[in-house]
Amino acid sequence: MLTTRGHIIDGAGYAKSLRDRLAEHVSSLQEVSGKTPCLVVVIVGEDPASQIYVKNKGEQTQAIGMESRTLRLPDTTSEAELLRLVDELNRDPVVNGILVQLPLPAHMSSLKVIDAINPDKDVDGFHVTNAGRLAVGLDGIVPCTPLGSLMLLKDAAEKFGDTLRGKNAVIVGRSNIVGKPMAQLLLAQDCTVTIAHSRTQNLAEVCRSADILVAAVGRAHFIKGDWVKDSAYVIDVGINRIQVETPEGSKSKVVGDVDFEAAKANALAITPVPKGVGPMTIACLLNNTIKAFCLQNGLAIPDGV
Ligand code: GUN
Repeated sequence: MLTTRGHIIDGAGYAKSLRDRLAEHVSSLQEVSGKTPCLVVVIVGEDPASQIYVKNKGEQTQAIGMESRTLRLPDTTSEAELLRLVDELNRDPVVNGILVQLPLPAHMSSLKVIDAINPDKDVDGFHVTNAGRLAVGLDGIVPCTPLGSLMLLKDAAEKFGDTLRGKNAVIVGRSNIVGKPMAQLLLAQDCTVTIAHSRTQNLAEVCRSADILVAAVGRAHFIKGDWVKDSAYVIDVGINRIQVETPEGSKSKVVGDVDFEAAKANALAITPVPKGVGPMTIACLLNNTIKAFCLQNGLAIPDGV
C-alpha cells in the first residue's frame, strides 16, 4: 500500500465521469423505452443558497439528456397547497423523480412533506421507507450526499490498494440527510461506525480514532488538523460561506467543516471544498432519478446505478 499523505480526492472529476456514464444510460434507456427520465424539483421561497442549488440541479439534469422541471412557489404557499402539489406529482406518470428542496419555510413540516412523496419517486432517499430499506439492507433509493461520499471513499481506497472493510469510521453529524444514512452505508461496508455530534464528549479523541472521518456538522473549520489520525481518509461534507479579509477587502469564500490545510498534512486522502463532495450530490441525484425511472418502467437498472 502507498503511504503518501495529502492525496486530494477529486470529487468534481469523479462527478463529471459519473455524469458522462449516466448520459449514456439516458440515451440507451430512451432507445429501449421511447421515454425520457423526468426530475421535478420544487422550491418554496427565496433562500439564496437553495436558489443556486436548484438552478444547478436543473442545468445538470438537462445536460445529461433528462427532462428537468423546476416549480417555484412563493413562501406564502401553505403546507396544504404544497402537499396537494406533491400528490399531483405522485400521480403524474411522466414524473419519475420528485425533490422538494430543503429547508422549507418555518410554517411547514419537512418530515410531513417528505412523508407525502411516493417512496418510488423519492430521489432524495429521505422518505422513511427508503431510510428503513437502507437500515435493514434492502435495495432502495439512497440519499445523494452519503452515496456520493461512499463512491469517493471506495475509489480512494481502491487507488491505495486498500479496503473499507474493518476500518473505524467516525461520522461527525447525526442528520437524517447525511450522518445517519452515511453510518448505514459504512456499516454495510463492514466498517465499525461511530456517530459523533455536538454533545459527544472528547470529540477530538473520538475523531483521532477514525481511519475514515466524515465531517457533516455545518460549521466552518470545526474539525482541526490534529483531530485527524495519521493516514486517515477524510470526507468533508460541509459547505460553509465565510468572509475573509484580503488586500482588496472583505470577500466571501466557501469552506468545509474541516481545517483543510492542517488536516491534509495528516490525512492519506481528503476531499477539498469546493470540488469535493458537493458535485457528487447532484451527480447522485441524477443517478437516483435514472434508477427510479427504471424501477417505475420495469426496465433493468444499468450496471453501477
Ligand atoms: N438542501 C440541501 N441539500 C439538500 C438535498 O440533498 N436535498 C434536498 N431536498 N434539499 C437539500
